[in-house]
Formats: sequence, C-alpha cells, structure tokens
Amino acid sequence: MDYKVADINLADFGRTEIQLAEHEMPGLMAMRERYGDSKPLAGAKIAGSLHMTIQTAVLIETLVALGAEVRWASCNIFSTQDHAAAAVAVGPEGTVDAPAGVPVFAWKGETLEEYWWCTQQILRWPDGAFANMILDDGGDATLLVHLGVEAEKTGIAPVPATATSTEQRIIFEVLQQSLTESGDRWTQIAGEIKGVTEETTTGVHRLYEMMKEGSLLFPAINVNDSVTKSKFDNKYGCRHSLIDGINRATDVLIGGKVAVVCGYGDVGKGCAESLRGQGARVVVTEIDPICALQAAMDGYQVSTLESILPQADIIITATGNKNVVTADQMSRMKHNAIIGNIGHFDNEIDMAGLEAWDGVTRKNVKPQVDLFTFPAGNAVIILSEGRLMNLGNATGHPSFVMSNSFTNQVLAQIELYTKLEDYPVGVYVLPKHLDEEVARLHLGALGVELTELSEEQADYLGVSVAGPYKPEQYRY
Ligand code: NAI
Repeated sequence: MDYKVADINLADFGRTEIQLAEHEMPGLMAMRERYGDSKPLAGAKIAGSLHMTIQTAVLIETLVALGAEVRWASCNIFSTQDHAAAAVAVGPEGTVDAPAGVPVFAWKGETLEEYWWCTQQILRWPDGAFANMILDDGGDATLLVHLGVEAEKTGIAPVPATATSTEQRIIFEVLQQSLTESGDRWTQIAGEIKGVTEETTTGVHRLYEMMKEGSLLFPAINVNDSVTKSKFDNKYGCRHSLIDGINRATDVLIGGKVAVVCGYGDVGKGCAESLRGQGARVVVTEIDPICALQAAMDGYQVSTLESILPQADIIITATGNKNVVTADQMSRMKHNAIIGNIGHFDNEIDMAGLEAWDGVTRKNVKPQVDLFTFPAGNAVIILSEGRLMNLGNATGHPSFVMSNSFTNQVLAQIELYTKLEDYPVGVYVLPKHLDEEVARLHLGALGVELTELSEEQADYLGVSVAGPYKPEQYRY
C-alpha cells in the first residue's frame, strides 16, 4: 500500500484516540449501522482533501465501512495530526509492518510543494484507475482538477485567476511538471469524477463562482450550508477551538484583554462568544450592516480595525476575505499583539506584506508561533503563519461537532454517488429532512428530550409530524 505519513509508529496512539472519538461521533456510527450492510458507496473511489485529524479518521473509516475505496490528503500544511494519519494508514486490521488501511498522504508541517504533491496522490489509484468522487474542504482538490484540464487543453499550466493563497501559486509548477514529466491526463481524471461534496464556506464560494462563469465540470453538494454544519461546526466548533489555539500558542491570560474579531458570520459569532467567555473585551469588525447590527445587539462594540488598533491585544480574522489585516496595520499595533486567522486561507492577514516589510525580523518561538519585530522595536506574534490557527496551533474542532458535519458529508457522498441522474452539473444543498435527521442522531447523546407534535398541531402548522418542520427560507 502506498502512503506517506510522518511516523507510522504513532498508529497505536492514533487508534486509541480514534476509538475515543467514535464514542463522541454518534452520527457517523449511526451511518455505519444503517448502511454497513447495503454498502451504498461500493465502487466509489473517493479522493479526500480535508484536515487529517482524529475526527477525519472516523469519517474515512465510515466511508470505507460503506463500501468506498478512499485516498486522503490534508487540506492545510499544518492541520494533520500525525498519529491520526498513521492510524488511518495502518487501519484497524493492519500492523505497523503491514499497513492495511487507507493510503494517506499527510503530515504536520508540509512544504507547499509537498502539499500539492499530496493532493495529486489522492486522485490516482496505483492500478491506473482514477478517483470518481471528491470530498473537499476549501476546494483545493477540485481546483487542481479544473486547472489541470485547462493546462492540458492549452499546454500551459494556468496561474489561477482567483489566486487567493500562497499555496495556489505553487500549483503552476506542479501542473507544469505533471504535464511534462508524468503525462497526466487531467481531462480523463475530470471525466471520471461524478461529483464533489464541499465542506467549508470558502470552498463553496469557489464552487458558486465556477458555476456562475460556466466552468464547473461536475455537480457539487454544498455541505457547508446544511444547517447542522455551518450553524454548528463553524460556530460552536470555533467557539471551542479558537481559544484552544490561542492558549496552546501563547498561554496569555485572555481575560481583560481587548480582542478584535474581524467578521461576524458563523465563525466570527463562535469566536466572539468564546473570547467573551474568557473575560476579554470583544470588539467586532464587519462590512455587512446586518451582521454588524447582530454583533451590536449581542452586546459587542462594533468598530473598524483602524480605530481599535491602538487598544487591540488579540486580533482574529474570520472573514474568508483577503487583506483584512494589512502589514501597515501590524506595524502600528501594540507591542506583542497576537494575530491569528481562523478563516480558510492564509491571505486574510497580509503575511506576504509582513515578511517583505523593510527591516522586519522573524524569530520562531516554537512550531506555528512566530515573533515579527519591526525596526522600531515593536513586535507582533503571528499564529500558524496566518493559516487557520485552530488547526495549526490546536487540534481543530472536537469530535461531537464534527460528527454533525461529517454525517452530512457521508449523506452527501451517498446522495451524489447513488443518484447522479438527479444532479446535473450545479451546486446543491442536502434536503432539509436529511439535515433534521443529522440533528436527530445527535440528541440522544446529550440527553435531549424532543417534544413531539400532535397530528392536530402538525395540521395547524401545515407540516408533517415527522418533519421537515421549517420552510426552506427559514434561517435558524
Ligand atoms: P460567513 O460568510 O458566515 O462570515 C464571514 C463574515 O465576514 C461575513 O459576515 C462578512 O460580511 C464578513 N467580512 C467579509 N469581509 C470583511 C472585512 N474585510 N472585514 C470585516 N468583516 C468582513 O463565513 P463563515 O462561515 O463564518 O466562514 C468564515 C471563514 O472561516 C471561511 O473562510 C470558512 O471557510 C472558514 N471556516 C473555518 C473553520 C475553521 O475551523 N477554522 C470552520 C468553518 C469555516
């Protein structure tokens, strides 16, 4: 079996943590129970590009239990948990000497070149076959295939028009090499792919853009906008993992500090709540009047980054946008201000501008924590080189919330793979009854007692006793 991980000997540790996580992931375990015999994913060859964590290991092994063949890479250079990667490669039945799990290509601290090499590995099977499904987080695997097709047509690897991160610039070289040296058939790869299920806001944004310009090559399910994903993972997941990342990276007392959260979408809402929970004085920045008003009515000061800059101790970006914190602003912040990004790509904070700042010096404090000192002597602490710090400095979201997200992923893979004829090229969300089902699967573990509608009440509301309970336009 081909694979590349940091240390295969970490598999035992990984397996123990996977077993603990299974207990906390009732949705995924219910999928195994429900579909383990019928194996609806038999024949599916899934290329997965999603943070290679313990929780993802439970997802991968669920896909396998449902009949899929899987190859996996991480969707960020810092987010892999090496023991999880090792355990997935070894598999529940294999040994360190004879791994028998899933081919994983992921380790914590990949270079960008290694990152894109890993992404390439998930699309090809050793027997010459190609992936026929993509499970993506942030859209890099999908992007690579689309750019590959363009490169094959023109003979020249395109630099993505939407180049939003340093990673993407490396694709040019990878594709150029793939065309000249490996003779990759990107058109064939794209032709084999039935569809993609996309995990996050930023990846979904890319899919809608591709659809708008008519370049999307296969159907996609937007998993992010299942209510049980974005209103849970993005919010409650970040509420947990944001401060975990700050604590592990810096161990500063958060209470009393002025913490700025840029963006008050689902992620920003969770971040602001967790910082307030620690006693920080939280200030929100927003460009959308609706979200700004929400933040104000939730009791936060809403300001611009520029006007709060002299007071800010901790600055967190959660926008999915670019250049939200500029190098010039970093040069004028309080000494040792902590700057972290929890959005998907590393361009929310202008890292390129910071690194190129005249006379700035960089001192690595420890992995994923760097001190940048300006010529005047003031410094800023940068988490995870501006990449998502909850996965770079900590271990991402905990199992229970990821069980909700990943149950949606499994349902989306089954939906696309088994009912492809219902999904012409386009971007779709899962039907509401499945969203409600995902939530239902997680109630028991929390001891929730759900009230049941009577027939009379259901008739009065105009819904069925078994749901769905809300119209499509309902916003939760
Ligand atoms: P969202 O669209 O709900 O929220 C983003 C908010 O940022 C919006 O309200 C928007 O108006 C605001 N915004 C945009 N530009 C801004 C600017 N220049 N200044 C201030 N505010 C600005 O998106 P969501 O779901 O909150 O996701 C945000 C990012 O986090 C995305 O990149 C997403 O992929 C990522 N994400 C990361 C996770 C993690 O574990 N690190 C988990 C889930 C999502």
